[in-house]
Amino acid sequence: MGPSALKTDNGTRGKEMTIEDIHKVVNSFGEAAARAQKAGFDGVQIHGAHGYLVSQFLSPFFNHRVDAYGGSLENRARLLLEIVREIRQAVGGGYPFLVKINTDDFLPGGFNTDEMLQVAKWLEVAGIDAIELSGGTILGLVTGKPNTSFSRIERNGPYYEDTAKRCRDRISVPLILDGGTRSLDVSQRLIEQGTADYVAMARPFIREPDLVQRWQSGDTAESGCLSDNACLFEGIKGHGVHCVHIMNESLLQLA
Ligand SMILES: Cc1cc2nc3c(=O)[nH]c(=O)nc-3n(C[C@H](O)[C@H](O)[C@H](O)COP(=O)(O)O)c2cc1C
Ligand code: SF4
Repeated sequence: MGPSALKTDNGTRGKEMTIEDIHKVVNSFGEAAARAQKAGFDGVQIHGAHGYLVSQFLSPFFNHRVDAYGGSLENRARLLLEIVREIRQAVGGGYPFLVKINTDDFLPGGFNTDEMLQVAKWLEVAGIDAIELSGGTILGLVTGKPNTSFSRIERNGPYYEDTAKRCRDRISVPLILDGGTRSLDVSQRLIEQGTADYVAMARPFIREPDLVQRWQSGDTAESGCLSDNACLFEGIKGHGVHCVHIMNESLLQLA
């Protein structure tokens, strides 16, 4: 299910959600957040990025609806904002509640930075505690265009620094910057310059789960992550997500 049935070269895929489906999903988000809170998690985050359901509603590339959930940005953001209200009602004020959104889908006619800036403003007004900025979609992986995916194979991050600066100028909600950061120096610069309040990393922790402890111990050499996504493809193949290079080094040491 999604905002619209997608037309692909192999025919039509998926099912356009009915209004009843949408209401059910909104309700389920609220219930899930309440379960997470009850289970003792420190907070919840809506995944509004990367071409998954909420991100598809935001994106004109995926969302071709002509009802109250499609068309204008206000309509495309309706699902996200309804989920935000539902979750806030379910968990109450004071419980940390974050949203991850795309700065850009990198898809023709997709959700773009100007739209993100407006949605971020709406999220601020809706009482979100922090916004995590990311970009790209899973479609980039499926179509063999990794630099339009959420895990770009570029080492020249942080990928969304300029966008984060634009966002910072407009909203005061804490910002978390995701994508391509590999060193303590750059992380500190981002914070000191006020570009972001927090820095998120993914693949450096796949390569080196104790990276932060190493930096804290005084060894501040940057992450050795090559950003080549080999770990991701191992996961897709069903071999478990792991850094293939570290594993190869370990095997060499055993040999
Ligand atoms: C193996 C793998 C799994 C991922 N799974 C998720 C996920 O479940 N949710 C999410 O928001 N991002 C996921 N991502 C994307 C990362 O959170 C992050 O946005 C992306 O890798 C860019 O950050 P990085 O350059 O620090 O790796 C995943 C990335 C990789 C490589
Ligand atoms: S396989 Fe290793 S080096 Fe390559 S992106 Fe994944 S963690 Fe980084």
